[in-house]
Amino acid sequence: MQAASSRETSEVPDREPRRIYPITEADLSEILALERSAFSSPWTKDAFLQELAREDAHCLLLRRKSGDPSAYICFRVFMGEMHILRIATAPGLRQRGFAGLLLHRSIGIARDLGATAGFLETFSGNRPALGLYEAAGFSVAGTRKAYYPAEQPGGLRRDAVTLVKNPLHPREP
Ligand SMILES: CC(C)(COP(=O)(O)OP(=O)(O)OC[C@H]1O[C@@H](n2cnc3c(N)ncnc32)[C@H](O)[C@@H]1OP(=O)(O)O)[C@@H](O)C(=O)NCCC(=O)NCCS
Repeated sequence: MQAASSRETSEVPDREPRRIYPITEADLSEILALERSAFSSPWTKDAFLQELAREDAHCLLLRRKSGDPSAYICFRVFMGEMHILRIATAPGLRQRGFAGLLLHRSIGIARDLGATAGFLETFSGNRPALGLYEAAGFSVAGTRKAYYPAEQPGGLRRDAVTLVKNPLHPREP
């Protein structure tokens, strides 16, 4: 079960009204469409259901006022650490600050739950993701060689970089 702090919906104070919600099973068909458009190895419905069932998991969805799903994030908080597993914005809605808002909100939730440091891995060539995390105060801490499967059959496995934010102070998006 998710913590109460991430179960409450909340208005995002910004020019375009939108709200951030905890993801429920009812959202998964929309989330899966976003997931498939964003990742070459997308999570399945079962993977999301298993994530939603975890005590330490938090999955949030940002919807515009129209109701359209714009971006989502999944992270875990345990042992004083925040681990970000997933973040994506709908392809037509990128570079409008949606992922930055979700990340900022998530860091606040993780801090409220006692996390003092944040961690994640991403593909070393993922410029948008690296830009997003660096803008939020994460730094590259190391490389994991051949961490991700090849994008094409027969291709080379891809390196990951590990990013860390320690201490986990929030930074305004
Ligand atoms: C990475 C991703 C989530 C960013 O989402 P977004 O909503 O476009 O990001 P934002 O608009 O909130 O941008 C926040 C910051 O990220 C950085 N950023 C975003 N897109 C960028 C790009 N194409 N190139 C470089 N930096 C970028 C910028 O620093 C930006 O801040 P700024 O607008 O003040 O310059 C999005 O590109 C995406 O869904 N990618 C596919 C899925 C993915 O790779 N997820 C990350 C896996 S760890």
